[in-house]
Amino acid sequence: MKPLMTRKRWITVTLGVVLCAGWQVHAESNRVTFPDLAPLVHYTTVKRGNVTEHMLTTQKAIEAAKGGQPIPNGTPFVLVDYRDGKVHRYFVMEKGPAWGADYEARRRTGDWQFQWFWPDKSINMKENTERCQTCHQSQRDSEFLYTFEQLRDFRASAARAP
Ligand code: HEC
Repeated sequence: MKPLMTRKRWITVTLGVVLCAGWQVHAESNRVTFPDLAPLVHYTTVKRGNVTEHMLTTQKAIEAAKGGQPIPNGTPFVLVDYRDGKVHRYFVMEKGPAWGADYEARRRTGDWQFQWFWPDKSINMKENTERCQTCHQSQRDSEFLYTFEQLRDFRASAARAP
């Protein structure tokens, strides 16, 4: 049994190295640029422990969701991730004309692309945004958004509630 154990451990280590290397290789910039946050509307908040997430998008996207229309191309969605009251990172997803064609069908999320930005707006080059897409693919029926319902139900009078 002993040689088998050793072999198993060797395989685990090798796999780990290969996976990490793959992760680095796939780190990427893409078409998503850091958006101008000033005109965006804060439409909902998610709180979990010491994490507070503010979700922002354009007024036009809110109107589209309410009217049952597709979210227009050029729309950014921003998740501002605050830890203990300070910005820890920004998650951005943005839709553009035929942007889905940049990716193989397996990882595609319609025409949405994803990016992770640090507070200085630089890209986290250690992130493989395929991970974002794989998870958000489950939201295919709601524009790949998890907070689509909150978007549709948003009323300006409730804006920026703590
Ligand atoms: C394991 C699943 C998962 C992964 C991976 C993931 N997300 Fe999300 N994302 C969520 C969930 C769930 C929400 C809803 C908010 C919440 O519950 O925290 C969300 C919300 C968002 C939102 C706000 C709009 C919306 O869909 O509601 C953006 C923008 C976003 N994610 C971008 C990203 C980016 C960029 C990445 C990769 C760097 C990423 N996400 C990775 C699950 C995921």
